[in-house]
Amino acid sequence: MKKIKDKYFEPFISHQKILHRIGELAAEIDKKYAQQTPILLGVLNGSFRVLADLVTALTIPVEVSFLRVSSYEALQTTGQVKEILGLEEDIQSRPVIIVEDIVDTGTTLLQVREQLLRAQPASLEVFTLLHKPEALQKELTLDYVGFNIPNAFVVGYGLDYDGLGRSLNDLFILKA
Ligand code: IMP
Repeated sequence: MKKIKDKYFEPFISHQKILHRIGELAAEIDKKYAQQTPILLGVLNGSFRVLADLVTALTIPVEVSFLRVSSYEALQTTGQVKEILGLEEDIQSRPVIIVEDIVDTGTTLLQVREQLLRAQPASLEVFTLLHKPEALQKELTLDYVGFNIPNAFVVGYGLDYDGLGRSLNDLFILKA
């Protein structure tokens, strides 16, 4: 059990399981992009760990960049993306894979996707470590999903509760 600020969290998915699953998805990406050099675009802040482990597991050459988006305050989504910053790279005619830590309502991802599509990439796929299918409110295709999880708040492995918990190696889930 972990206490972060006022909340208690229980062990949920171990670091070992996370790495194993990332390895499986990396093998799919290796195969699909064998003749290409995709740009992996991490959505900050939560994706920094999953993106690092994903590029470690991949054997194809990739480029790495980050976007910054913020739509969440403490335990609840604010329902709208406040800002999208970053993206220095020219992604026109390049294969792009968005890398997310978690897709909850899908609001963030939908807006990121729309913005990136305007830059006319050759292809645009989505990788997310976690997905809460019950919370999804948008029409979205997720190409690589690590784990489908219940509609509950999780921390660790890059994901935070009110700024804390990102450094935990395992994932923890809010105690009911
Ligand atoms: P969405 O726009 O509702 O899909 O929210 C996506 C963003 O909200 C993610 O990139 C996370 O930063 C944050 N988020 C959603 N669910 C959780 C959670 O369970 N723990 C921590 N952050 C979360």
